[in-house]
Amino acid sequence: MDVMDILYLTLTSAKIWCNGIINNYMSTYLYNCLVTYGLQIELSTKINGWEVMKWTEEKFDYVRYNPRKDINRYGLSITSLDGGLTGVPDLDSLHEYNLENKTKHEERDFRVKTPVYEHKEIRKCLEPFDPHIFRTHILKINPGGYFPKHRDFRKDQFDSARLIVPLHNPCYFILDEKILHWEIGRLYFVDTAKPHILFNCGNDPSYWLVVNIDLNQQSFDTIAKMFRVK
Ligand SMILES: [Fe+2]
Repeated sequence: MDVMDILYLTLTSAKIWCNGIINNYMSTYLYNCLVTYGLQIELSTKINGWEVMKWTEEKFDYVRYNPRKDINRYGLSITSLDGGLTGVPDLDSLHEYNLENKTKHEERDFRVKTPVYEHKEIRKCLEPFDPHIFRTHILKINPGGYFPKHRDFRKDQFDSARLIVPLHNPCYFILDEKILHWEIGRLYFVDTAKPHILFNCGNDPSYWLVVNIDLNQQSFDTIAKMFRVK
């Protein structure tokens, strides 16, 4: 390796490092723009939640969501590492899976579409964001199931935005001490950096489509164009 090779490698590494910092600042700025508009923002997309719920229950097997915790929650992957439906590790606790397996998986690593993506209503919802979709799944919270109070983000890492569709029988969703109200089948941006709790105290399962979007100028513009209130 000569001096030119070393110089080239140094400059390339510096460029990658700088791009990472710029992208991080950019996505944090865009996240703050979004949350200025609201905690829960109605978007124009609406799908048939009942049809999606029935189809997924007939065609696929939901798997335990975070099997490390004995809570009555299940999930069905719409994207995963390999396009499979095992839920490993995309429906596990990524933090704990990474520690145990010495891996470094992040939301952005789960981009391969599973067969669940093929339903026309799911495609209708996700296609506008197609190049930007990270870890995405359907969540099924059975009676008694819950998510304790938590935030979906850490430190200054705002590289994604959380979009949610209540598909069927939405359970209690409390965000920043407020009970959220939902239109079934409607797509929403939800600021899940704020503390939130979900719990199902009803008698039937609650189904939610949970989408993570890479937050960049293009995906931000797509979301902003979909605001129902202009
Ligand atoms: Fe959350």
